[in-house]
Amino acid sequence: MARFLIHGFVLFVTAGWLAGCTPSDSERPASPTDDPVVYGERVYALRCQTCHQADGSGVRGAFPPLKPNNWVQGDRGRLIRLVLHGMGGEIEVRGERYQGVMPAFGYLSNDEIAAVLTYVRQSFGNDTTSVSPEQVAAVRAANEGPRGGWLADDLWDATGIPETAPPDSATAR
Ligand code: HEC
Repeated sequence: MARFLIHGFVLFVTAGWLAGCTPSDSERPASPTDDPVVYGERVYALRCQTCHQADGSGVRGAFPPLKPNNWVQGDRGRLIRLVLHGMGGEIEVRGERYQGVMPAFGYLSNDEIAAVLTYVRQSFGNDTTSVSPEQVAAVRAANEGPRGGWLADDLWDATGIPETAPPDSATAR
């Protein structure tokens, strides 16, 4: 009987401790089925905010702003490659020069990348088209990211979403 009581007590304490450690709803990323902008905001807070800041203003001389500029609002294929593969080299954003390293986020899911880019393209004063998980999947499948990330000048020219299955690719080569 005493042993049962002790076991019961230990279980009770363990269960309580585990419950205390379970992240609350506010800490858990929203699911990709939610509004992509809401989901994207969560992904942004976890993955991008430390450098680009909560309001997208960046850090002068170190991390460029995500406020309206051609990287954020321009070609979606370029933007997806940037997040999938990373980038280094000199760039100019809103009149300021930067030369840092943007890490690669290829380990994020297509849903997460699509959501975070949609969020960025529709926040911080930006107001342009969304990015879909299918577009991220197509760029990922092309597998063209250079080892160690893109050089900014090369990435600038790497635009467009590759076709996932070009009509003549099966027979061409
Ligand atoms: C460790 C810091 C860091 C993190 C985290 C980071 N970035 Fe960057 N990002 C940079 C740096 C540095 C550059 C400029 C790279 C260069 O100079 O070539 C950059 C450039 C960019 C640019 C192009 C320039 C501009 O300001 O518009 C975009 C867009 C961008 N990042 C989006 C993102 C998104 C989206 C995330 C989250 C998924 C993210 N970044 C996470 C450091 C970071």
